[in-house]
Amino acid sequence: MKIVSVLNYKGGVGKTTLSACAGQALALTGYRVLAIDNDPQHNLTAMLGAGLHKPTIRDVYHATSIGLASQQLLKSARKTNVANLHVVPSTGELCANDIKDPLVLQKCFAYSRLERFYDYAIIDNSPGMDILQEAAIHASNEIFVPTELSQFALDGISEMQDLLSRRFGDEHVLSKIIPNFYRSVKAHDTFIRAFTERFPGKVTATWIPFDSVFDTLVKEKKILFVHRLSSRAAAFYLKLVHELFNLDEQTTWNMVMSRRKERLTSEATQRLVKLRQDAKDLSAAANRPPLEAPPQPDLPEPREITPDVDSAPVPNGTMTPLEPV
Ligand SMILES: Nc1ncnc2c1ncn2[C@@H]1O[C@H](COP(=O)(O)OP(=O)(O)OP(=O)(O)O)[C@@H](O)[C@H]1O
Ligand SMILES: [Mg+2]
Repeated sequence: MKIVSVLNYKGGVGKTTLSACAGQALALTGYRVLAIDNDPQHNLTAMLGAGLHKPTIRDVYHATSIGLASQQLLKSARKTNVANLHVVPSTGELCANDIKDPLVLQKCFAYSRLERFYDYAIIDNSPGMDILQEAAIHASNEIFVPTELSQFALDGISEMQDLLSRRFGDEHVLSKIIPNFYRSVKAHDTFIRAFTERFPGKVTATWIPFDSVFDTLVKEKKILFVHRLSSRAAAFYLKLVHELFNLDEQTTWNMVMSRRKERLTSEATQRLVKLRQDAKDLSAAANRPPLEAPPQPDLPEPREITPDVDSAPVPNGTMTPLEPV
């Protein structure tokens, strides 16, 4: 079973987008995927269309034994907007103090024999590197790092790599660095070269282009590979998923296309059923006898009011305009 942590010191670089899109692509290809939201911002939970239900990842951390933690983990896995993809939700209350043992997730996965239920687990992390991320790293066999293309991003990942080797030795190293927000400009090409020189063999051949479709997906609660499969972003993301998970490109495309078709057909059927129901409700309302007017309270007859012009005060004397100074 492949367990991936999506990490970066920096915030807003596309960790949650990568976790959600990779999870959805794998699930649409037919794999059983568990996405774990290890971030108090709980963006992944929202992006995958799951509400803030209990138990959450925090309950896994709070369990008093590994047996109970494993039970909570399996109990917390919720259905998402894509079949075969489950999510362990997070909560705004999650914090570093919730974890007493940094090996808790690793032990939990082993105890519950997670591989019986899932082919992949993807852990989305908050920015930074404290015990929350450490627990995810211990449990993972790969670390994916999406990044923007800037000097701070380059320096940040170097620092992260040093920190990882100090804390984990050779056991947990960065597996892949994924350039995100790519634009075909000289500055970005220069940074791609700089990343490739500093992290040989780690930078993916696929760079995710900057595309406003990602914000639209969040706003409209849509799925990239279902509702925007013909976008450039979807094509690049599917290519990236092949590269990261060593999948066969043609098989993935065929599976995603056929599941997308099923999904769109079922969404269209649901819309049609709803339209028919709305039309029925409307015609039933039109044929209903008019509602009887509610009884009116006894009010006194309205009096006609005429302004009493004669009694209005008359200014004393005549008004003289002011003299200019
Ligand atoms: N390739 C892209 N092009 C344009 N916008 C993108 C791209 N990838 C992600 N985004 C947008 O960038 C924003 C940040 O992305 P995301 O939430 O995935 O980052 P994050 O690293 O998880 O952030 P945080 O550190 O706060 O958890 C989101 O609004 C997302 O829709
Ligand atoms: Mg995030």
